Amino acid sequence: MADIENEAGVDRAFRRDVLAGFESRPRAIPARWFYDRRGSELFEDITDLPEYYPTRVERSILDTRSSDIAAAVGPGKAVVEFGSGSSSKTPLLLNAIQPAAYVPIDISGDFLRDSAKALSGDFPGLDVRPVEADFTQPVSLPGEIDGIPKLGFFPGSTIGNFIPPSAVDFLRAMKATLGTGSLLLIGMDRIKDEETLVRAYDDSAGVTAAFNLNLLERINRELDGDIPIAAFRHRAIWNDMLARIEMHIEAQSDVGFTVAGQSFAMATGDTIHTENSHKYGPRDARILLRAGGWTVTEEWTDPEDQFALLLAEAQPKRTAP
Ligand code: AVJ
Repeated sequence: MADIENEAGVDRAFRRDVLAGFESRPRAIPARWFYDRRGSELFEDITDLPEYYPTRVERSILDTRSSDIAAAVGPGKAVVEFGSGSSSKTPLLLNAIQPAAYVPIDISGDFLRDSAKALSGDFPGLDVRPVEADFTQPVSLPGEIDGIPKLGFFPGSTIGNFIPPSAVDFLRAMKATLGTGSLLLIGMDRIKDEETLVRAYDDSAGVTAAFNLNLLERINRELDGDIPIAAFRHRAIWNDMLARIEMHIEAQSDVGFTVAGQSFAMATGDTIHTENSHKYGPRDARILLRAGGWTVTEEWTDPEDQFALLLAEAQPKRTAP
């Protein structure tokens, strides 16, 4: 991961992923590249859409079940959040559980420091220790929280962005970061009717379309591209066999373009696969966590079972049944 430690490195990694993505069949570019400044703003807008239920429902679970969550977690935990600490869910959790410390981990240092500062303002007595790192790999935590029991926090159903083998690797990395005996509170979106799922990723205001197509804008901006964006459209489909929403960008005419000095062509109907968002039924969720070394001990959902918050414990290795 050495080449994503600085801005030049980010550019290099972005160029590498985009060029490889246009070469491969099917064409595919990793979803992490959505989140430039504009993409992050558009994602914030998505979370306010009437059709995009996950953020609203997860927040309502944290809110209405806070005393149950607090009882199950206990006080005095060091809360280690994987990914954006800007989320509106963090204060709900911190207010509920009387934490001893808060450690947000994010790869984007500026963002991390801003949100850590804002959070410190809202929780004056709390020990806040941001760590700038790639949280998909084992991370060494600040020595100051050494003896404190840990609660990992990974809301937002972001685990759904990973294909299952990568999700398992990532869960294992979280376990390596936090240690045996630690707890993990993780949000996972449920499998539900296709129409609700597709509408959440293809909203009537076109915000998700703009979010998806912003990837092409970013490529043009940062990689000296001339992709004719108007020739493309957003697609969101439910892949039932793989239990995931897929986002694609589809060419509506034959196009040729250049990116970083390389030429590419796409024919009408050709697509670029830009995101997977896996959904999990109750037992799917539990077995995914177990495969990653975590045993689910509690789970909270909304009345319609649209979304789940699961509490799991990092189990020691055991080979006997
Ligand atoms: C941030 C990964 C949880 O998959 O629902 C929202 C991203 N993409 N609309 C999701 C997203 C399109 C979101 N996650």
